[in-house]
Amino acid sequence: MNPLFRTVDVGGESPYTITIGPGLLADGAALARHVRGRHVLLVSDSTVAPLYAAAVREALHAARPELGIGTFILPAGEASKTLAHFGHAIDALATLGATRDACVFALGGGVVGDLAGFAAACWMRGVDCVQLPTTLLSMVDSSVGGKTAVDIPQGKNLVGAFHPPRAVFADTGALRTLPPRELRAGLAEVIKYGAIRDPLFFQWLEAERAALLESEPTVLAQAIARSCEHKAEIVERDPLERGERALLNLGHTFGHAIETEQGYGSPDNDNLNHGEAVAVGMVLAARLSAQLGMADDADTERLIALLRAYGLPTAIPAGLAPDALLARMRLDKKNQAGRLRLVLWRGIGRAEVVPDVDEARVLKVLAGG
Ligand code: NAD
Ligand code: GLY
Repeated sequence: MNPLFRTVDVGGESPYTITIGPGLLADGAALARHVRGRHVLLVSDSTVAPLYAAAVREALHAARPELGIGTFILPAGEASKTLAHFGHAIDALATLGATRDACVFALGGGVVGDLAGFAAACWMRGVDCVQLPTTLLSMVDSSVGGKTAVDIPQGKNLVGAFHPPRAVFADTGALRTLPPRELRAGLAEVIKYGAIRDPLFFQWLEAERAALLESEPTVLAQAIARSCEHKAEIVERDPLERGERALLNLGHTFGHAIETEQGYGSPDNDNLNHGEAVAVGMVLAARLSAQLGMADDADTERLIALLRAYGLPTAIPAGLAPDALLARMRLDKKNQAGRLRLVLWRGIGRAEVVPDVDEARVLKVLAGG
């Protein structure tokens, strides 16, 4: 193993390893080790494919010349995470003649990872998927844990499956081409781990802002590895989100409502992307926690200060009606028996799931009260 690489093992019934380091996308031997059969479908998007798909194809081909490698490319952006594009990915697997020992490689951010993972979960009732995350957000969150999904107009990620990957290779070299806004979106999910369960990590993130925003390689790799350790620890105990995994959704019920109500973000519009919406959502969750007497306002202020320091938004974008956002929140996957069930906190590092949250209180927070 290259000494520059870090690994995080995810245990449980379907164990796998997350490898983090520069140059992994060109490591054909490491990638090909996870291909059991002869068919590979490489799924990517219109921004990432021109940058990295050829390197992955060539690396796989050099390691295993007999492989049949198909490619399926989505238009970049959240608006592509649809049932229609899922159907096209399935068509690509059929055209390839992929058998049950096929392997789908998801090369891109969370949009590609979620859609390709869902196609792998469904083709012939499940084939292998290797995640090759290329955004910070997908390295620290979406490529790990096996949640796969597409969006529908009624809401985000409402159609999907749990399908753990066979392996995750986070090539930190790919972050060199990531736009700064996308880097910051990933940092929102990194901050989330501190906010949920690790006050010392939160403090470290307060101290390392400049290095992280500059993508200083050692500090960035440290942040990725620590985030993956947090996620691994939770998903190996609760892979199907029967309990503590829900904590990973701090800020997401609010955030998903914002994303759905504004229309999904894409390279062609200024709508909040997923990480930005989660940043705003975490602030709203903290404000609600304070209003319910669960936490101090001082914790909310510290969270807002950290998010702002990372250049992230902390308020609902103008023009989104509170009651429309609340209506979106009613369709969240965590809700039970028609009642809102939210991840709130008792302060930094102490998130908890709160059932039966009073809608009037939520509406007040959505209205800025
Ligand atoms: P994304 O996949 O849309 O990527 C963001 C943008 O960056 C895209 O335009 C993409 O083309 C571009 N890009 C990606 N890698 C690049 C690179 N190396 N260089 C240059 N450009 C690059 O968005 P994302 O933020 O990675 O993921 C968000 C998605 O992840 C959402 O759909 C969200 O629901 C999902 N998600 C899933 C989970 C999960 O557990 N499955 C967790 C968190 C988020
Ligand atoms: N991103 C939330 C989860 O994986 O559960």
